[in-house]
Amino acid sequence: MEKINYIIKEPSRAINLPSELGFGRYFTNHIFEMDYLPEKGWCNPTIKPFTDMAFHPATMVLHYGQAIFEGIKAFKTINGDAVIFRAETHIERLNNSARRICIPEVDVNFVVDAMRELVSIEKDWIPTNKGEALYIRPFIFGMDPFLGVNPSKTYKFLIILSPVGAYYPRGFVPVKILVQDDYVRAVRKGLGECKTPANYAASLLAAEVAKKKGFDQVLWLDGVEQKYIEEVGTMNIFITFKDEIVTPKLNGSILPGVTRRSVIQILEEWGENINQRMISIDEIVDSYKTGRLVGIFGTGTAAIISSVGMLSYKENDMLINNGKPGELDLRLFEELTSIHYGIKPDTHNWLTYTEKKGIELV
Ligand code: COI
Repeated sequence: MEKINYIIKEPSRAINLPSELGFGRYFTNHIFEMDYLPEKGWCNPTIKPFTDMAFHPATMVLHYGQAIFEGIKAFKTINGDAVIFRAETHIERLNNSARRICIPEVDVNFVVDAMRELVSIEKDWIPTNKGEALYIRPFIFGMDPFLGVNPSKTYKFLIILSPVGAYYPRGFVPVKILVQDDYVRAVRKGLGECKTPANYAASLLAAEVAKKKGFDQVLWLDGVEQKYIEEVGTMNIFITFKDEIVTPKLNGSILPGVTRRSVIQILEEWGENINQRMISIDEIVDSYKTGRLVGIFGTGTAAIISSVGMLSYKENDMLINNGKPGELDLRLFEELTSIHYGIKPDTHNWLTYTEKKGIELV
C-alpha cells in the first residue's frame, strides 16, 4: 500500500461543543479517504480536512445501495492516551460485510493504522465523561456513475469521526422495546449479518411505528416463522433468566456484534452460565409469567450496554426488573467502560493505542 498523504490544515480541537453531545451530530476536522480503482486496487490514501463532497447523480451507491460500514469507538484513558476498542475485529467484520456484497476487501493492518493516525490527529476531540467517546465510522461505497445492476468497479473508503454521548438520549434509563411481528428485518441467507445500509432502511418504518406508540426500539423476530428473537437493529439482545443468560445464536440474519462477543467473553470469565441458542418469544413471555425472567439488556458499540425496562409483545406488556437497570447490566457496563478508560487493565488486548506523530501543518 502507498503511504498516507497528509493535508492537515488547521490545529485539531473541539470548540463550542455542547455538554449534551447526543449521537452522530458533530464531526471532527479531518477525514481519511482512499479510492479503489480496478487497475490499482486500494489507492490514494489521504487524511484531509472534512468537507462536503460532490457526486455524479448516477453514482451507483445512490441507486442500488452497495455500501458497508462499521461503528467503532475511541476513548481517552485516565492516563490521557487515545485508544480504539477492538479495532482489528471491527475491520475484519468490515471485510466479511465486503465479501457478502461484492466490495473489494481492505488490508486490515493498513486500515487500523489509518484509523490510528486519524484518531491521533483528532485526539483533542475525544470527550472524556463516562459514556462519551469518539465514534469512528469507516464506510465503503460503490462509485461508478452507471445505472446497470452489477457490482461497481470503483469504490470510495472514508473514515469520519464524531464525538458522541450516550446513544439513547435518556442515558442509562432502561429502554422500552416493542417486539415487531408486522415486518421483518432480515431473513437467513439474506443480508442480516452484513453491516450494510439496507438492513437499517428495512428497520425504519417499524421503528417509526414503535416510536409513535412510545417505544424506543424494535426487537426483531426471525424472518421465517416470526417465532425466535433476533436483534434490536442497533443492539444485540441478552436475556437473563434465573438459571442462565442467553443471547440468540448467530444464524446469518443477526449482526455479529463486537460488543456482543466481548460481553460473552466477560460473562464466561465471570463463570456465568452464558449460552448462545435460539430463544422463542413464547419462552420469554412464559418465563416472565413464572418469574424465571430476571432481566434483559442490549449490547452495541453505540449503546455499550442498555437495560430494557419494558418489552411489549402482542397483549403482553412485560415490565422488566420494575423498569430499573439490572444489576448484571450495570456490572457489565462498569466492566466495559473501565476497560475503555484504562481504569482496569486491558487483559484481553482489546485496546489499540494511538500515538501522536507530530505531523506538520501545511
Ligand atoms: C453501532 O453500534 O455502531 C451501530 O452500528 C449502531 C448505529 C447504526 C447507530
